[in-house]
Amino acid sequence: MTPLHIETPRLIIRHLNIHDLSNFIIYRSNPEVTKYQGFDVMNLEQAEEFITENAAKYFGKAGEWVQYAIENRETGQLIGDCAIKLDQYDTRIAEIGITISHLEQRKGFAKETLLGILTFLFNEIKLHRVVEIVDAENTASIKLLQSVGFKQEGHFIENIFFKGKWGSEFQYAMLKREWEERK
Ligand SMILES: CC(C)(COP(=O)(O)OP(=O)(O)OC[C@H]1O[C@@H](n2cnc3c(N)ncnc32)[C@H](O)[C@@H]1OP(=O)(O)O)[C@@H](O)C(=O)NCCC(=O)NCCS
Repeated sequence: MTPLHIETPRLIIRHLNIHDLSNFIIYRSNPEVTKYQGFDVMNLEQAEEFITENAAKYFGKAGEWVQYAIENRETGQLIGDCAIKLDQYDTRIAEIGITISHLEQRKGFAKETLLGILTFLFNEIKLHRVVEIVDAENTASIKLLQSVGFKQEGHFIENIFFKGKWGSEFQYAMLKREWEERK
């Protein structure tokens, strides 16, 4: 299968590889970055294992999260990562997630990544629906989703136990027809 490769004006979204490790660990070891995420901070060994395991995965398998690198085209350096999972029961639906390094936030990189992913999923793969589930306290992520036109569909109250307490989540989604109407 052809590896996923998405280009945007400033970024390349591509497969993670072991050369990304030194930049990946800088933000994946930061508790502020993983605060609202289901996974915890990683040490170098865990990060290396994660990249190695992920390297065997490809876009297109139902029900499997695959993590991709977000590379700054100008510097060639990893500035974050994003994940896509096609729904286990219907591969016309995908769930996504984006993480940008704390050193690179508030520069519009997440929005550019999200628009790149949506262009790929809706225009090329012809998906019907893209979903993201966010912690109800994750203001940055909520703003990001709203800024590209995702609609809030659900508010789950204390539905997930992670990092020692119950958390609440919002479900946001966009349909292909909403993506097309947006333009
Ligand atoms: C959420 C996240 C990806 C946003 O990345 P970013 O590159 O800083 O976002 P952008 O610069 O592209 O900003 C996108 C929009 O969100 C807004 N935004 C970003 N961070 C914000 C913050 N902390 N508070 C309020 N608004 C914020 C921006 O103003 C922008 O809105 P606009 O286009 O209407 O001006 C980043 O904060 C992050 O990686 N957080 C940790 C990981 C995480 O929780 N990911 C989500 C779960 S998968």
